[in-house]
Amino acid sequence: MAIQSQDHVSAADKEYKLPRDGRESIRLTAQHYMVVNRQGWILHPDVESAIKDIPNPKIIDLATGTGIWASDIAQRTSACFWVYDSLDEVPEEHREKYDLVHVRLLLSAGPSIDKLVFIECFKKFLKPGGWLQWEELAYPNILSVHVDANSPSGLRQDFSVAYPIVHLLEKHLKMSDRLGWIDQFEKIVCKAGGWETAQKIAVPVHPHLLKIETDLTAVVLMDLTEKMIMIKRLKDQHDLTEFSEAIRKLHEDQDNGVMFAYNWVCGIAKKS
Ligand SMILES: C[S@@+](CC[C@H](N)C(=O)[O-])C[C@H]1O[C@@H](n2cnc3c(N)ncnc32)[C@H](O)[C@@H]1O
Repeated sequence: MAIQSQDHVSAADKEYKLPRDGRESIRLTAQHYMVVNRQGWILHPDVESAIKDIPNPKIIDLATGTGIWASDIAQRTSACFWVYDSLDEVPEEHREKYDLVHVRLLLSAGPSIDKLVFIECFKKFLKPGGWLQWEELAYPNILSVHVDANSPSGLRQDFSVAYPIVHLLEKHLKMSDRLGWIDQFEKIVCKAGGWETAQKIAVPVHPHLLKIETDLTAVVLMDLTEKMIMIKRLKDQHDLTEFSEAIRKLHEDQDNGVMFAYNWVCGIAKKS
């Protein structure tokens, strides 16, 4: 892995835990198709049935990345998307204009802003009765999956907080603060107030997607490390040696057939 540290990085980019380059765009695009396949839907069925009778529903994808989700949904319905920096006030022309706000993987790699602040922002975009669909990683974020002839599915799944690279990233990035909350999705939405219903859906791992999911997970784990080095958050020689040993182990395990998957959760909520 060729890594260069960078002297001039904006504050917003320091907050964002991943690089912004061609490889990352390819990863986000591949990840989109993998995730839609794993979920079995691009819109959760409850959301789909709620908006299907609305002529030309207005949909907005926030923290859109490459815009792949919006481009895909635009093939199926009339959608519009916008990249939004939620630290700004929601502009007047976007207030209460949307039937659906979609957000995916904002907090997993993004800023450490309180999710209640985001939930309030999303609510401002929605018409009364509009829906929020928010997909994130739960905590622990990565599952390690092993072939196991004794298990009925032929697979054994571990929550791999103790896995070396996951453990190191947790230590340096405090992932649990950022990811643990989605398990409390209903409670947090209820606390925020102004929502009629909220539901959290844990999306199971699919064996046929494990190869691509393993490859994508390995890339994201390396990219998180690379970004920390790039912004000089990781510079101590001892830490660098620990990370490089953990990445070597990741590759070795991959070569030996260990597979990885995201701990994937989707939250949906309807505004009152
Ligand atoms: C991991 S990417 C996910 C992109 C896309 N949602 C997807 O699933 O393909 C996270 C995105 O969140 C954006 N982001 C990070 N901090 C943000 C903030 N404070 N407000 C809005 N977007 C933000 C990043 O620029 C990036 O595009």
